[in-house]
This record gives sequence, C-alpha cells and structure tokens, in this order.
Amino acid sequence: MANPRRFFVGGNWKMNGNKKELGDLIKSLNGAALDPKTEVVCGAPAIYIQYAREMLDPKIGVSAQNCYKVAKGAFTGEISPAMIKDCGANWVILGHSERRHVFGESDELISQKVEHALSENLGVIACIGEKLDEREAGITEQVVFQQTKAIAARVKDWEHVVLAYEPVWAIGTGKTATPQQAQEVHHTLRDWVKKNVSEDVANSLRIIYGGSVTGANCKELASQPDVDGFLVGGASLKPEFINIINARQ
Ligand code: PGA
Repeated sequence: MANPRRFFVGGNWKMNGNKKELGDLIKSLNGAALDPKTEVVCGAPAIYIQYAREMLDPKIGVSAQNCYKVAKGAFTGEISPAMIKDCGANWVILGHSERRHVFGESDELISQKVEHALSENLGVIACIGEKLDEREAGITEQVVFQQTKAIAARVKDWEHVVLAYEPVWAIGTGKTATPQQAQEVHHTLRDWVKKNVSEDVANSLRIIYGGSVTGANCKELASQPDVDGFLVGGASLKPEFINIINARQ
C-alpha cells in the first residue's frame, strides 16, 4: 500500500528575526520551487503571525509557537487559539522542548493546551523527545511513550495532529539523530499509537523528526519509512530550508 501520509515540513523560527529579515526569508520562500507534495508550515513569533500570514504565499501555512489552554481571560502575556486563528494562522506548535525545559511546562498542561487548540480547530504540532541523560539511561521509549500518552489522553480526533519527535540532545546542537535512530523511535511510536489509539490513526498520523535537520542530512532522514517530515529550527531561517522542503524529490 502506498504511504498515505503527506510529507510535512515545519519551520520553527523560534524567537528570531524582525520584519526585515523575516520579510526577506518569506520572499525567498514565495519565489522558490517547492515540492507540491510537501505540506509546509512556518512557525512565527506570536507578534509576527499576522505579518507572516499576510506576506507568505497562501500555499504555505502559518503556525504559532505556543498558546494557552483557554479562550480568553486574565492570563497576562498569553495568547489563545482563537486569537491565532483571528490573525490567519491555522497551526500551533505545543510541547516544544524549550517550553518543557526552559519554561517548565508539564505533560498535563501541554495536553490541556492540545485539547483546547484542537477544539478551536487549530492544527497541532505536538512535540515530544527525550533528554540526553534519558537516552543514555536507556529510557528513551519510556519517556516518549509517557509524553505521547499524556497528549493522546485528550485527543479525540487525530486528523489535525502532527507528532514531532525531537530528541532534546539534537535540538540546536548540530548533533542529529542518525536516520536509524530516528526511524527506530518513529517506528516504536507508530506501534504505540496502533496499540493505544487505533491502526487507522497509526497509519495516517504524520510523525516528523526535529533536531539539527539540515540541507545536508535531510534526504537520508526523509528516506526512512516512518519519518513523515521535519520540524526545523536553525535551518528554517536559511536558504537550505527549501532543500529540506524538497527532501523527498
Ligand atoms: P534545530 O531546532 O533544527 O535548530 O535543532 C529544532 C526545533 O527546535 O524544533
């Protein structure tokens, strides 16, 4: 059976850029020959979501990098899925390792955010991944299953969820998981979904890899059967992002 999963490449701009720099980046993306088989989404800093949406070609999606778990209220500094949609974006990245480990977000909070974002019809790029000491202790599976379980407990419909496996030791470090390491974890995650959610969801869920993906290593990673795309940080700000989008060509 042909792989039913559309290749998905997200750019996570994190807290980088300004109107000039992001505008230049957007112009180069708009003018590039992008593989039409790849779904592309750019994760803009909250304050530039509307700017990115207005500038980017409509075939490229826009994502927020975080949101809160309720629609509105006295939560100084937070943004809601309703606001993200109001500014024209359709996706949100949740549970990114920097949210988990720099800002102390728990599995419970992340799962509540996922539930609320989905209920507001945002697509969710839900991130999981083990730290270096956890990999070295041999508990990678345990960690990513636990994180996935917390998310899965609050997801009723998986159609608008993309699961991003991002080993923390590979994020922003220049140390990429080998294609075999990525495939191994993606495969066990798909198997977990098959056993704990359903076979249909396991077959259709995009599981993407993140962590020092570059133009140079993307093709081999993309050739792995359970790697359905990427979440790209540093390289999403560079011209090589186009090569990553076209990794399956
Ligand atoms: P990186 O970041 O590509 O710079 O390692 C990936 C991410 O944080 O999503």
